[in-house]
Amino acid sequence: MHHFRYAGQNLHCESVDLAEVARLYGTPTYVYSAATIEDNYTRLSGSMKGLDVRVCYSLKANSNLAVVRHLANLGSAFDFVSGGEMRRVLAAGAGVRDSVFAGVGKTDVEIRLALEAGIFSFHVESEPELGRINHVAGKLGVRAPIAIRVNPDVDANTHAKITTGKSGNKFGIPLKQAAAAYEAAAKYPHVEIKGIQTHIGSQITEVSPFVEALDKLAPLAADLKVRHGISYISIGGGIGVVYREALASGPFTWWETQPEGKRPLTAEAYGAALAPALRQLGLKVLLEPGRSMMANAGVLLSRVEYLKRGQGKNFLIVDAAMNDLVRPAMYDAFHEIVPLRRDTTRRALVADIVGPICESADCFAKDRQIQELGEGEYLAFMSAGAYGHVMASRYNTRPIPAEVLVKGSAFEQVTARETFEQMVANEKIPAFLK
Ligand code: LLP
Repeated sequence: MHHFRYAGQNLHCESVDLAEVARLYGTPTYVYSAATIEDNYTRLSGSMKGLDVRVCYSLKANSNLAVVRHLANLGSAFDFVSGGEMRRVLAAGAGVRDSVFAGVGKTDVEIRLALEAGIFSFHVESEPELGRINHVAGKLGVRAPIAIRVNPDVDANTHAKITTGKSGNKFGIPLKQAAAAYEAAAKYPHVEIKGIQTHIGSQITEVSPFVEALDKLAPLAADLKVRHGISYISIGGGIGVVYREALASGPFTWWETQPEGKRPLTAEAYGAALAPALRQLGLKVLLEPGRSMMANAGVLLSRVEYLKRGQGKNFLIVDAAMNDLVRPAMYDAFHEIVPLRRDTTRRALVADIVGPICESADCFAKDRQIQELGEGEYLAFMSAGAYGHVMASRYNTRPIPAEVLVKGSAFEQVTARETFEQMVANEKIPAFLK
């Protein structure tokens, strides 16, 4: 459940009027709901009753320091994929002793940083990486805790750019070769085998691919428990969220009327489907959710610059662009777009909702029906809390947008909008051009 609602005519995040946030901090600005994050975290961490579950929030979805701190306060550990992400956890005042380091290309420096910080485990993606981790740990005189990411060759039925568990993806070690990789790991003096990991993809809206992956992995996990004494299984992230009718899914009213199978995959359904096989294994369970913690907890606020009426086509030109929210351009992703001030007396408009960037990919929605809006009025892109701000760029020398965190009736800017001076601070004119 999320906490974005119309109170009267105005869209609110918890008790805060979003138009007020837009006026105060300008647009484009991301706004996050602390209560929604808490709800998402609590429901998932409690979804597998009787099991020893640890949520390692996947920082890549949204690594804002305030978000990290909020999740740490709730009891979350973390899944990071770079030295930078690990440093964000530390900078947020959280520990990394229960956290994991994933990613296909860990560098020597990153491995050393993580070992020095004392992370819980490395999620290893290849045999050469095992050798590298062993080498760096040896130089530090420590043993590196590891789990191998196993690719179960399961089709997650999701967008090609975010599927990861098929053979042919760059991720993990194929199931058939995994036992041999563990034997190789056991021979390294500076490696300590602690677990097994898998992750099959993202925005998965049905439970069956997760069940299939776990079924494929379970015999190996049981064997590794006996042979190498592993203590945990990480089943990755990937739980999909509602992008269509996102506003209606808040109090669940609309979704509850939908037939089984058409409802969104809930934390409860996910937990219930996976818990029996996990219970059999008797291992600690790590979950690495990113999107399902953050997507519906955030919106991107934007302002209408122009309504351009073309021949047979209208364009609503807004001040957010593909550099601020790249998901529609990159994955053809759908985001619900709603006015901050709802006025049912106005006519509906059908328009392409586009940003000001000079390429056709800078289009958020084609032929979208929306209440007629004019210059200076605000709108919100729903479900933009995950893979939104973290994927923002400075394309067209547009600043990285601001971020605001709301809790009840309190709100604070947690990232200031970038200034022009900050954007060019690391650039210089070389001496030979002066
Ligand atoms: N664990 C591993 C090893 C991952 O690679 C990922 C995501 C996660 C956990 C978290 O998955 P989630 O719960 O967020 O689905 N930028 C894309 C999504 C890329 C996901 C990459 N890996 C998007 O905007 O749709």
